Amino acid sequence: MKTLCLIALLGLHLSAGAADLANGQRLFNVRCASCHAVGPSASNGFGPQLNGLFGRRAGSGPGYSYSPAMKRAGIVWNDKTLAAFLDDPDDLVPGTKMRFWGMSNQKQVGDLLAWLRSQQPAPQR
Ligand code: HEC
Repeated sequence: MKTLCLIALLGLHLSAGAADLANGQRLFNVRCASCHAVGPSASNGFGPQLNGLFGRRAGSGPGYSYSPAMKRAGIVWNDKTLAAFLDDPDDLVPGTKMRFWGMSNQKQVGDLLAWLRSQQPAPQR
């Protein structure tokens, strides 16, 4: 039993890779939190809340009024599509109403996405 717990912990640790979660949280607070919330008490604000993001279709979060561009984007959010979106939102989803000047530093994007994933109510891949 003890061994199993240890393996589970190790697995969690490994799946987080070398990402710096504290840096990810800091980046979220500075760059995203003015428009987005995530976590158990998150609600939609100027931007949609970001729970359940990984593996979900773009523009399909509950109760948020997305732009037509986001609703018809046909993207499924994962590390790759999110990195492309953050790099240049309007390039991946032309006409999106997310006004954001982009984040292209791969280490920063990796830290940010790892933290976002760690805030999800249920573990996501
Ligand atoms: C100035 C406000 C603003 C900032 C800052 C901002 N966003 Fe957004 N974001 C929005 C809006 C508005 C939308 C809805 C876009 C649409 O419907 O076209 C959105 C949409 C999204 C989506 C799509 C969500 C879905 O449910 O499909 C993701 C993912 C996202 N933002 C992530 C981020 C991240 C991560 C950051 C920080 C790096 C960030 N955003 C910064 C306003 C913002």
